[in-house]
Amino acid sequence: MAKYLIEGGSRLHGEIRVKGAKNLALKIIPAALLSTETITITNLPDIEDVRQTLAILADLGASIERDGETCRIRIEKIKKSHLAEQAHKLRASIVFTGPLLARTGEAYFPHPGGCVIGAGTRPIDLFLEGFRTLGIEVNEESGLYHLKADKVRGGEYFFTTISVTGTETLMMTAVLASGRTTLKNCAVEPEIKALADYLNSQGAKIKGAGTPTIEIDGVEKISGGKFEIIPDRIETGTFAIMAAATGSELTISGCNPSHIEILLCIFKKIGVKFERGDDWLKIFAGGKVRPYNIKTHEYPGFPTDLQSPFTVLATQADGISIIHETIYDRRLLFTDMLAQMGADIIMCDPHRVVVNGPTKLAGKRLTSPDLRAGIAMIIAGLIAEGTTEIDNIYQIDRGYEKIDERLRAIGAKIQRVDG
Ligand code: EPU
Repeated sequence: MAKYLIEGGSRLHGEIRVKGAKNLALKIIPAALLSTETITITNLPDIEDVRQTLAILADLGASIERDGETCRIRIEKIKKSHLAEQAHKLRASIVFTGPLLARTGEAYFPHPGGCVIGAGTRPIDLFLEGFRTLGIEVNEESGLYHLKADKVRGGEYFFTTISVTGTETLMMTAVLASGRTTLKNCAVEPEIKALADYLNSQGAKIKGAGTPTIEIDGVEKISGGKFEIIPDRIETGTFAIMAAATGSELTISGCNPSHIEILLCIFKKIGVKFERGDDWLKIFAGGKVRPYNIKTHEYPGFPTDLQSPFTVLATQADGISIIHETIYDRRLLFTDMLAQMGADIIMCDPHRVVVNGPTKLAGKRLTSPDLRAGIAMIIAGLIAEGTTEIDNIYQIDRGYEKIDERLRAIGAKIQRVDG
């Protein structure tokens, strides 16, 4: 199994460019199913989750040409209505179901997997309820879900829990439906608006994406076109936190700082100095960082996907921070590994830890339980004295492109060892 070896104690310097947003790439690829024409996607990150998502699409009959960060997809005829086996491993595979059903009248899919960060297998009750309100029959047969509808019809659905992929999936299911669909209490992440803007430019009639109420008037056809993936706001925030935690001066380019407004507001309060432009962010090497209590929240609140890196930063702050993870109940379990490295962390319950900083960290052998905990461990390894070894780096490769090469280029001592 491959692992990362990190020699801690080096300051980072220079510039790192942010890649395209993983959590948009994983939605725009299934969106290709909505059209028989070619879609050209640019700024596509070369990460494991994207490779798996493209493999699911290829299995459905798509022809895919990939050249660096550009990918051309065409799916004139869909071969089947079953999602391939790997859908089971990827949470975002559920996004395929709406477009697949809209084109073929049915969809078979396994319970989608992904990072083990929420209760048991992460639930899909909202998707199933939403499908039913659009006139879709939902059954479970031999361990697979089966969706069926000769024609999807417009309806109204209120999300009792705000869901990112739920919003995206129902929005895409409704695009080719008959009549109007109204979705209420939707997620408002920038990736959702970007997806809707693209679909609108190709003939869809979606109003309100990026606000809690989205109205979709069904259309007959979606054309092909060009789509540039927006910068990954979680990578942006992760690199910013990495610079702050390691006391480094770092320029983060090709990003959109307005998508991490909350983190930058917190930086001002805790003494992390930065400058920002429209598409860059520069973090300055500073003195002591003050503690801060965070509570994860749907966008534009503090993203759960930045909670793990921020918790590492809190180990270096001067005082007590309370980290309250409201979205997932397993995302704080990795803090046990930070404690093994020397951090002073008390877990109050699955949703809250108290971090008492600053503490020196010492290199240890760790296993990455999920993508964001994995990158947090890399940050901890960069701060720690000695060598940190991180196993199960498949989890990190799922979402961060060539992270070792990119971090080495800014001065980190990190090696990938393939075993
Ligand atoms: N939920 C339900 N029932 C459902 C769907 C969701 O109870 O049917 C609950 C979840 O268990 C969770 C909450 O609703 O407690 C919010 O989950 P959401 O559906 O918004 O999460 P998601 O769409 O599965 C996306 C990102 C996650 C990110 C969350 C929250 C993708 C592919 N994934 O997940 O990203 O943490 O939104 O912002 O877009 C990551 O990139 O590491 C990652 C996990």
